[in-house]
Amino acid sequence: MTERFMVTQTMVTIASRTEEAEGVVTLRFDWNAPASPGQFIMVWIPGVDEVPMSLSYLGDRKGITVKNIGEATKALTSMLVGDRIMVRGPYGRGYHVPTGKILVVGGGTGMASLLPAMERISATDVHTAIGARNEKELLFEERSKKTSSNVRVSTDDGSKGFHGNAVQLAKEMMSETRYDMVLGCGPEKMLFFLHKLCLDMGIPCQMSLERYMKCGGGLCGSCAIDGKRVCREGPVFSGDELKEMKEFGKQRRDECGGRLKL
Ligand SMILES: Cc1cc2nc3c(=O)[nH]c(=O)nc-3n(C[C@H](O)[C@H](O)[C@H](O)COP(=O)(O)OP(=O)(O)OC[C@H]3O[C@@H](n4cnc5c(N)ncnc54)[C@H](O)[C@@H]3O)c2cc1C
Ligand code: FES
Repeated sequence: MTERFMVTQTMVTIASRTEEAEGVVTLRFDWNAPASPGQFIMVWIPGVDEVPMSLSYLGDRKGITVKNIGEATKALTSMLVGDRIMVRGPYGRGYHVPTGKILVVGGGTGMASLLPAMERISATDVHTAIGARNEKELLFEERSKKTSSNVRVSTDDGSKGFHGNAVQLAKEMMSETRYDMVLGCGPEKMLFFLHKLCLDMGIPCQMSLERYMKCGGGLCGSCAIDGKRVCREGPVFSGDELKEMKEFGKQRRDECGGRLKL
């Protein structure tokens, strides 16, 4: 099979900037590239770095939702309307948008990748569990309510909603409703335990992973997990694919390929 890799970069202008939570900013820009839920783009901030970001909004006015954790994300979250960035993509295999009763579980900035998928499903069929360390870090609760008939939140410190983590909340929700599919995105430890819960409950799932990315298009191998390229065969993997991955939830690689414990 011939693989195509688009390296064309497009300069876009920030059209809006929204502070979503502490240190988390959504940037919207006009770019009419076709994209599907769960795909990501490579964002180049000239003079700083190029980093992968999920698309939190599809359509002609696309969006990324960035958490400030380092140099590139600090530069992005500091951007103002009128500033410019370079984008390429979208890349990767996103969510296979399911039918039936769906439970969406998002932790950290994970909701950014999940919301475009939720918006393709009737709200009556979607229940959502959003996890955060505390109330100030909760993301996209109001936007989720527009596309989900039951939105519950969990905080590790109990400052809002369920006192505990998103997987514990998901377990409680699964005891009340029989779901046909679980979609998850967030810290990999969370996904590891969510995947285990889905296996125990016999519910199919899809989860979006993160690995260190350089090319974003399947060429360099820096994003490999158990022989699969997260940028190309992922970032969204099915529960069956995750079951075969020995590195899932256990280790990742740094920018030089060195193994890091998760
Ligand atoms: C498919 C995908 C989708 C993502 N979506 C989002 C999103 O929607 N919102 C968001 O805030 N973040 C997202 N990230 C994570 C984001 O790419 C990193 O937070 C960012 O690259 C950090 O760069 P930095 O210079 O700010 O921090 P640094 O200090 O350089 O790095 C901090 C940590 O970020 C990670 N990181 C750094 N560079 C990369 C890279 N090139 N590829 C992957 N991880 C890297 C590493 O774990 C590193 O330890 C996504 C990552 C992937 C792989
Ligand atoms: S980032 Fe280069 S192969 Fe995935």
